[in-house]
Amino acid sequence: DAAGKGGYDHYMLKEIHEQPRALRQAISGRVDELATSVDLDIDLPEEYLQSVEEIQIIACGTSYHAGLYAAELLEAHAEVRTSVHVASEYEFNGGRDPWRTLVIAITQSGETADTLSALRTATRAGARTLALTNTLGSTVTREADDTVFIRAGPEIGVAATKTFVSQVATATLFSVYLAQVRNGISTKTATRLLESVRDLPGAVQQILDQEDIIKETAREYADSDAFFYIGRAVGYPVALESALKLKEISYDHAEGFPAGELKHGPLALVTSETPVIALLTDETRPKKTLNNVKEVKSRGAPVIGIASDPETTGHVDTTFDIPDCGAMEPVVGNVALQLFAYYVADEKGRPIDKPRNLAKSVTVE
Ligand code: G6P
Repeated sequence: DAAGKGGYDHYMLKEIHEQPRALRQAISGRVDELATSVDLDIDLPEEYLQSVEEIQIIACGTSYHAGLYAAELLEAHAEVRTSVHVASEYEFNGGRDPWRTLVIAITQSGETADTLSALRTATRAGARTLALTNTLGSTVTREADDTVFIRAGPEIGVAATKTFVSQVATATLFSVYLAQVRNGISTKTATRLLESVRDLPGAVQQILDQEDIIKETAREYADSDAFFYIGRAVGYPVALESALKLKEISYDHAEGFPAGELKHGPLALVTSETPVIALLTDETRPKKTLNNVKEVKSRGAPVIGIASDPETTGHVDTTFDIPDCGAMEPVVGNVALQLFAYYVADEKGRPIDKPRNLAKSVTVE
């Protein structure tokens, strides 16, 4: 067991540290040298992908958050209407030409019962299906029309870490691929996105090198009443995912909100005992979110900023500095917040790899 953990106290910490390698594997051989094109070995014919009118993403838990992230990219770049569904709530509503709806199942294990059930609903209705998974030979790979692997390697910790970042990176590659097939993206934009995916492993390593600062901050805030995470655009799924991570392993109350929604309710919960963690990197409309930071600060809440622009530092109490990584900066921020969740839970002596009541793969509906 100790050998399996490679010298780390928990699998989760080991897997957090494996992320630069997992990401390199996800990208390897898929992006050309000039970062102009993507090859994901997709079998679905290009003519079919050109004719797709709508994408529906189905997933649970962390994979659902990766789906929310992917949807933003697909809508922005592949110019295709995309909705994201919690798999257990999914019902097919694909209009008169169901095959023009592409249903993408995102599932690390490939065995989650809710996701498989939603996939079967989509197949029965006549939609085409694509799986995004980590697991060769899993049920989803047999049932979906086509599969893209995220290549993160085995993940033991119940709380997903490296598979989330690999899902987002692979989904970003898919968005660029689909956008190019559909002529919806300039070479300049494609290269900007692909270069940021290529820069991701190095940027994640730089965050891992700040582990001590993050650990110290986590210890400082470990006794808080609750933790609120706020973000906009792709910062919102990262806020949801980071809050989920903290609640799963520390058992603390943690919630993620779209930053603009705070004032419509959650603000009533904000006190000096509830730290607010704000996503303020590129691609998350940081200037707007700073207004929300001011709102919570005036109620006495301590604020941790996840930021890449030194100008924001003055507005928050603590900053986790995110290295420049273009469009992928929120993903790098997520890694910082995985470490934050880990050290809050560690401070409390929680069984981090096996949180109470949770399972790595849930095979009942
Ligand atoms: C379980 C795990 C979560 C995971 C979810 C979906 O609830 O504890 O970490 O995100 O299942 O799993 P999947 O394998 O479908 O991604």
